[in-house]
Amino acid sequence: MAKLTVYDHPLIKHKITRLRDKNVDSKLFRELVNEVASLMIYEVTRELPVIDVEVETPLMTCKGYQVSGDSIAVVPVLRAGLGMMDGIMNVIPMARVGHIGLYRDPKSLKPVEYYCKLPGSLEEKFVILADPMLATGFSAAAAIDLLKKNGAKKIVFACILAAPEGVKALSELHPDVDVYTAAYDEKLNENGYIVPGLGDAGDRIFGTK
Ligand code: URA
Repeated sequence: MAKLTVYDHPLIKHKITRLRDKNVDSKLFRELVNEVASLMIYEVTRELPVIDVEVETPLMTCKGYQVSGDSIAVVPVLRAGLGMMDGIMNVIPMARVGHIGLYRDPKSLKPVEYYCKLPGSLEEKFVILADPMLATGFSAAAAIDLLKKNGAKKIVFACILAAPEGVKALSELHPDVDVYTAAYDEKLNENGYIVPGLGDAGDRIFGTK
């Protein structure tokens, strides 16, 4: 069973509540998604490797730590995952970035791959897969399959909302991948939407509805 982290923090709870509000427009929605993603990254990166370095303070030399860009990759699932990227990259600007394009077939709800461009030496990287909505878990599982096929060994999944169905599917298909979600919702409805949810994250981020 993968480790599931559900954030229990006043700022995240406040921002998630604003995200759920159907009257929040795309500009504010984007800002909130990025702010939540930034706040989440602190925990998501807790196991990130650091390199020992020396640093000259104005007073003396002392021991310090450095996160190498070569050790970390962030991979948003297109298109909604892009909505989390500014927030993530503000906190870890040294990270390499890959992209995985998947869309959900509206009938089968199964993911279809249409794009994959990943950083090199993935096997040495701490890989953060980002997608705001963990619904059925099919897209996340397919994206993780692709990452593993490309050599990734350490993968964590970061989302804004998760449904129990998605967490269950992911922990069965990829028990080695830890899941971080800002909120954990009740269930999926008959159309595969998370309820109470926040609607279609991609549409709300990009204003396509
Ligand atoms: N994708 C979304 O954008 N919203 C959902 O509720 C489920 C999947």
